[in-house]
Amino acid sequence: MPRALVTGITGQDGQHLAELLHGEGYEVFGMVKGQNNPRIAGVLEEFPFIEPVSGDLADLSSLVKAVEVAAPDEVYNLGAVSFVAYSFSHAELTADISGLGVLRMLDAVRMVGGATNNPIRFYQASTSEMFGEVREVPQTELTPYHPRSPYGCAKVFGHYITMNYRESYDMFACSGILFNHEGPRRGLEFVTRKITNAVARIKLGLQDELVLGNLDAKRDWGYAGDYVRAMWLMLQHDTPEDFVIATGETHTIREFLDLAFAEVGIDDWSPFVRQDPKFLRPAEVDLLIGDASKAKEKLGWVPEVSFPDLVSMMVTHDLEHEAAKAHLHD
Ligand code: NAP
Ligand code: GDD
Repeated sequence: MPRALVTGITGQDGQHLAELLHGEGYEVFGMVKGQNNPRIAGVLEEFPFIEPVSGDLADLSSLVKAVEVAAPDEVYNLGAVSFVAYSFSHAELTADISGLGVLRMLDAVRMVGGATNNPIRFYQASTSEMFGEVREVPQTELTPYHPRSPYGCAKVFGHYITMNYRESYDMFACSGILFNHEGPRRGLEFVTRKITNAVARIKLGLQDELVLGNLDAKRDWGYAGDYVRAMWLMLQHDTPEDFVIATGETHTIREFLDLAFAEVGIDDWSPFVRQDPKFLRPAEVDLLIGDASKAKEKLGWVPEVSFPDLVSMMVTHDLEHEAAKAHLHD
């Protein structure tokens, strides 16, 4: 039975990936941060097959221990401070966890090693946020980086150190440059889930206003379930390489609002949405659109869930979730 260690197991992607790996017959070890993590109990309830191991990306010795305990064939480094807005006010923390944390994880993997005929394979969660002020459209594996946030800067370091360890120490280490991916497990701080949750609550009469920042930014939004499949495929490939994972379509926040409100029968959302400068960022990423041709050609990866289906899936989930919560409080 192959063994995988996943950091960031309590996050959106960690849960999707655990589900996929379990389905592929893996023993799944999930790294859990903190002495009393508030999120892990819920995750273990939904995915009882996950074996929790303690570890923090700020602490190398804990990572070495986690790799020793899990004795993995594959490590997926998904743990990060991942919210771009938060990274502006917590720049040092973000650099430490999302940047240096990658170096520590690579060192832990190098130190523990794995069998010489079966070295540990390493996946790094890189991001389209590295493209920032984009130098070309669409963005590919060869597009230069111009990050626009402390998060983007930390991820550029994580990306290059992964490449450097691959080249220096002959590690099977690769990065997926993933564009935004969403779904019902997305954190409420991110714009898509903030919108679908608010739309559901407005429809149910539980909320009357949705306050947002910049509505004109464009994102290439896909479904998280499709994207974790790409992570896994990268580690099954013959050679360690970096891949852009994207849908090749871009949409504004306004277009997301159009579809989300239409899903509950509201054609004009303007009476419900207010803009507040407090949600604007010191520097913005205006346009992301990826070209995933390399992943299609070499991994056979293509996204399956369309943009309208993604929005519909999230609104439907949030309607059920919010209605059940409201009913509990009746
Ligand atoms: P997420 O939901 O925000 O999850 C982040 C995870 O990181 C959580 O499990 C969190 O654990 C963990 N974490 C935070 N600090 C940690 C630390 N010091 N040590 C160990 N773990 C720590 O993020 P996601 O959307 O699943 O994304 C997964 C990864 O892909 C991230 O690295 C993100 O930057 C990257 N990425 C995401 C997207 C996207 O659109 N979702 C696109 C490109 C790249 P706690 O719950 O314990 O805090
Ligand atoms: N979060 C949020 N909240 N974003 C808002 C809001 C709001 O109220 N109003 C407008 N936005 C705009 C942001 O300014 C940004 O342009 C866009 O919505 C998307 O914001 P997020 O959903 O927070 O995602 P992100 O694109 O900044 O970052 C996500 O995707 C990256 C990949 O490109 C995160 O998942 C990152 O971890 C990931 O690397």
